[in-house]
Amino acid sequence: MRFTHKLKKLGTGVAFESAGHHLRRLLLKRRLPTDFDAEAVMQTIDREKFETIRARYQVDNPGDDPPKYLDWQTWLEANLRRIRDLELDLGGHRTVLDIGCGTGYFLYLCRLLGHDILGLDTDDFPMFREMTELLGVPRLIWRVQGFVPLPDLGRQFDVITAYMICFNNHKMPGLWGVAEWDFFLDDITRHLSSRGRIWLELNREYDGTCYTPELKELFESRGAQVISHRVIFNQASRARAAIAQDAR
Ligand SMILES: C[S@@+](CC[C@H](N)C(=O)[O-])C[C@H]1O[C@@H](n2cnc3c(N)ncnc32)[C@H](O)[C@@H]1O
Repeated sequence: MRFTHKLKKLGTGVAFESAGHHLRRLLLKRRLPTDFDAEAVMQTIDREKFETIRARYQVDNPGDDPPKYLDWQTWLEANLRRIRDLELDLGGHRTVLDIGCGTGYFLYLCRLLGHDILGLDTDDFPMFREMTELLGVPRLIWRVQGFVPLPDLGRQFDVITAYMICFNNHKMPGLWGVAEWDFFLDDITRHLSSRGRIWLELNREYDGTCYTPELKELFESRGAQVISHRVIFNQASRARAAIAQDAR
């Protein structure tokens, strides 16, 4: 890591967080062997059924389209990294909601680790339906829309994630602004347990940015750490933001 980057991290408190992350990785009981990789995960999946799905949907040069997720080595490795970033391979049992869950790889890994899972997604892509069925990932079919609250999800979640977010009208007319995000963040917080965390990853828009300066300001005013395309809320940062809000 470059020195200037380290200095920047210190200034934002990210260094403190990442020191804690390293310490927790040393001290907490692991739910996953350190050498658990995509190959090991694949051995837990019905390979024959996976190949049937692959044969049906595979295309040359899928670009950003759903068939890209059929490259299981790449995407299982990516999702193992997500698991480790969120420390879901450490410590106790958690309830995890993934919004826009796609193939379900992330939640499948969560369940392998003993967590209680729920995916939420539209049913626009048959490949995602077949993949989540293959992986046995429970999925609530729901289209996230601006200013429309999520339905009753039946429980509170310790972790709410959304990766490579599209529900904000990514690269479409009506891209969400501050008001839509403010509503959405209030709404998902209702589904969060008291020790809950929210981890969001935004996609890049046509102008190369993931959010406007106003949106970054909103996320930070609500206590998020905004690191590149990631917007991360933990219990402590949300509490600090609530206190600051009350003091105003
Ligand atoms: C780029 S894919 C990412 C999939 C998965 N999160 C991942 O990172 O592998 C975007 C996902 O968001 C879902 N999605 C798009 N618009 C949505 C909406 N309005 N409500 C819920 N899900 C949506 C898509 O069906 C798809 O599963």
